Amino acid sequence: MTGPRRRTVLAAGLTSAAAGLTGCSDPAPPPVQTAPSVLTGNPVVVAPVRRAAVLTAYDVTAAELAAPLSALEERLRGTAATIAVGASLFDGRFPIDRPRLLSEMPAFRADVPDPQWCHGDLLVQAVADDLEQLRGPARPSVPGLRRRWSIEGSHPSAPGPGIRNAFGFQEGLGNPDAADRQLMGDLIWVQPGDGEPAWCTGGTYQVVRLIQMAMPTWDSDPVAEQERVIGRYKDTGAPLSGQRQTDEPDLDGEAIAVDAHIRLANPRTPDSMAHRILRHGYTYRLSAENTGQIFICYQRDVEKGFTTIQRRLAGEAMERYLLPFGGGYFFVLPPAGVRALIG
Ligand code: HEM
Repeated sequence: MTGPRRRTVLAAGLTSAAAGLTGCSDPAPPPVQTAPSVLTGNPVVVAPVRRAAVLTAYDVTAAELAAPLSALEERLRGTAATIAVGASLFDGRFPIDRPRLLSEMPAFRADVPDPQWCHGDLLVQAVADDLEQLRGPARPSVPGLRRRWSIEGSHPSAPGPGIRNAFGFQEGLGNPDAADRQLMGDLIWVQPGDGEPAWCTGGTYQVVRLIQMAMPTWDSDPVAEQERVIGRYKDTGAPLSGQRQTDEPDLDGEAIAVDAHIRLANPRTPDSMAHRILRHGYTYRLSAENTGQIFICYQRDVEKGFTTIQRRLAGEAMERYLLPFGGGYFFVLPPAGVRALIG
């Protein structure tokens, strides 16, 4: 991995948490939503998050797509999986239309991208309740596809209820309700009329971020400081302005710091509420020194969703504990799967 200087800084925990704080954007009116006609997509996206995931990025080496993609889909049959396409697949090698908003993930200001862990023509995500179940089927070898990177994630066993990340905090509390089909139609699934190629309807933009976490620094900080950084209590998950995890965070008061993660991630303006994202997180462990988060999120509009949030997080208090080094922007195929793309 590149970026030893930043790693040293991370280990020492010396970066200024407040530097570059951008603050919240002005409230904007919500976009006019017409009644969505597509309320379903790949069920893995909206199903309750499973305990384990394997993500594998591939590049296409074949001269045509039909055979390798069909073979990939066939090999994944019986596994809960998503197949997604990356921007590089649309570089002119194949006669297919690029999702309108699909681009190569840029490097954000705190990123230290490692090319070995970034992008890919395709991304396969396989999920299950146990990593063992994924060892065989999750990263199939297919003629015409070359594996680019692959990573396993699961949920660490941690004290307290709910799914916890490596920092020991509950995951997913601020997520929109994935069981609400109408809401998922509004926020997640591409709709006819979105200006996308027809084949994209019912698909969704998937962002993956591989984020190394400075565990020794985090673990040596008092819990009260960790809670200030996130904006929620570590044991209950309640916002620092409330008692229950279902309490709506009060962003007018002072309980939640201006650079707290949940405040910047969702300032609860009409615009930020209209472009909420659906997040799934897994903890990876590449070595004793390199543990972190596989951050995955889904949205109907990647620019108004992830990209806007990530820019707003610049300068957040958590930044000094994080080293984003990999991942990419992808588009999950609609329910028709590979046929949607290649006919
Ligand atoms: C290792 C990196 C990260 C960690 C440890 C982390 C941790 C957390 C925690 C503990 C919460 C509160 C519980 C919950 O709602 O899930 C949260 C909320 C949230 N995070 Fe992150 N997060 C990380 C990265 C990101 C990134 C990269 C984004 C998007 C760019 C993001 C967006 C959000 C959003 C939108 C919320 C919900 C805010 C709300 O509506 O209350 N997070 N995160």
